[in-house]
Amino acid sequence: MEVVITATPREAGLLVADILERTVRAGATLGLATGSSPEPAYEELVRRHREEGLDFGGCRAFLLDEYVGIPADHPQSYHRTIRRMLTDRVGLTSVDGPDGTAADLPAEAASYEERIRRAGGIDVQLLGLGTDGHLGFNEPGSSLASRTRVKTLTEQTLSDNSRFFAGEVVPHHVLTQGLGTISQARHLVLVATGAGKSGALAAAVEGPVSASCPASVLQLHPHVTVVVDEAAAARLEHADYYRFAHEHKPDWQGY
Ligand code: GLP
Repeated sequence: MEVVITATPREAGLLVADILERTVRAGATLGLATGSSPEPAYEELVRRHREEGLDFGGCRAFLLDEYVGIPADHPQSYHRTIRRMLTDRVGLTSVDGPDGTAADLPAEAASYEERIRRAGGIDVQLLGLGTDGHLGFNEPGSSLASRTRVKTLTEQTLSDNSRFFAGEVVPHHVLTQGLGTISQARHLVLVATGAGKSGALAAAVEGPVSASCPASVLQLHPHVTVVVDEAAAARLEHADYYRFAHEHKPDWQGY
C-alpha cells in the first residue's frame, strides 16, 4: 500500500486524475465512486478532456453502489450523480451500475457481478471513505469476502448523506459491490480529505484488518494507492515515513 499525503484536497485530486488519465489512455475499465471526495479529480479530468482532448471514447465504467428504491433519473441516484459529475461531461457513455429499482434485488446483484466479470473486471477502482470506515456502502460488519448485495445504511451514513437530499428521506437500503468484489479490481485508489476522515483513515490503513472497519480490507490487496490531504492524514502514526517514501520515490516506479 502506498500512502501519498498532499497539502490540499485539490492536489490530491490532481494526483488521482493523473492515475485515472493513464487508465483512460489505455482504454481500460474504470470503477467510479460518487460522494464529494472524488470531485476535484473529476473536475480535473473534465478540464483535461475539454482543454487537452483527453478521450474517454474507449473506456467503460462501473459504479460502486446505488440507493434502493429511487429511480435512476432521481437527482440523487448515483447513476444521475456520476453523469452530472463526470461521465456526461467527458463523453463516457458506457456506464453501468446496480439497478436499485429492480423487482428482484438479489438477482440484480448477481447480474451486476456477472456484467463486471464479462467486461474483464475493473482495472482501476476509485474509492471514497465513509466516516464509519465504509467502502462503497459496505458498512461495519460487512464480510471482507462479500459480493454485490443489499445493505442497510448505518444511522451515521444516513446523517452524513442527508446533506445531499435537502429534507427528503435518505433511502435506508442500497445495492453495493461487496468488499470481495472491490478487492478483485486490479488497482484500488482511495481518496480521503478533511479532518472528518482522519479516524476512519487511520483505522483503515494502520488498524487491524477487521470487518468492523470495512476499508481495512485494503491491507489485503497487492496494489493500493491511498491519496489523502494533511487533514485526513492527521492521525496516521507513520505519516513521516509515508512522506519520506514519497519524496524518495524512484521516477520509474509510477503509481
Ligand atoms: C458515500 C458513498 C461512498 C463514498 C462515501 C464518502 O456514502 N457510498 O462511495 O465514498 O460515502 O462520501 P464523501 O466522499 O462524500 O465523504
